[in-house]
Amino acid sequence: MSIIALLNTKGGVGKTTTALNLAVGRAQQGRNVLAVDGDRQGSLLTALTNRGDRAPIVAVCQYVEGQALRQQVLRAADHYDDIVIDAGGRDNTALRAALLLADKIVVPFLPRSFDVWALEDMSALLSEARAIKDVVAYALLTMADSRGNDNAEASGAVPSGVQLMPVTVGRRKAFADAAGAGLSVLELPGNRDAKAIAEMQALLAAVFN
Ligand SMILES: Nc1ncnc2c1ncn2[C@@H]1O[C@H](COP(=O)(O)OP(=O)(O)OP(=O)(O)O)[C@@H](O)[C@H]1O
Ligand SMILES: [Mg+2]
Repeated sequence: MSIIALLNTKGGVGKTTTALNLAVGRAQQGRNVLAVDGDRQGSLLTALTNRGDRAPIVAVCQYVEGQALRQQVLRAADHYDDIVIDAGGRDNTALRAALLLADKIVVPFLPRSFDVWALEDMSALLSEARAIKDVVAYALLTMADSRGNDNAEASGAVPSGVQLMPVTVGRRKAFADAAGAGLSVLELPGNRDAKAIAEMQALLAAVFN
């Protein structure tokens, strides 16, 4: 059983999109997966509700209060192979609960100054959490540009206490197209985006090794 949390106090960095793709990706590998939406906006809940009964099934629930999230995830832990938690883009009790529950934290960030600075904020939260528990965190460069130096510069600015995920996710329409219907990029019909699929497969391998 592994608990993965997609966390960043910054909004709009791809937490929900990544959570959805990881949850569906693991279910496709035959794992019994629970997705937990810790965000009041409920985007992950909506996406997986839109997915409906399509196989593989991914169970989803939403807890926006830290205490409820912690209690319920601990109860669910015996019944699932993997739990993927998506917290909202701000520091709140749900994010802090997820921070302490997770075996591995993935912090998506964009190759932009504001986003790189936000990693410092996460780094501070992680240090606080480490007073309680040994927390493992990876920064994941998402919506990366296909050219230019921004990606390398951003990767170089990852603060201490956060490791750089050895996989990068590019800015690709396929991710946005698939997510609304609760689909992973691997499930898109028609003109499937081979690069998006390769990135997500590499990410699945890196996160769940
Ligand atoms: N790799 C990607 N390529 C292109 N667009 C993306 C990618 N990942 C996410 N997006 C789009 O970027 C926007 C933000 O993504 P998402 O909702 O996953 O971020 P979030 O961190 O969960 O945001 P919030 O903090 O609001 O919950 C969405 O419109 C989504 O479709
Ligand atoms: Mg979100």
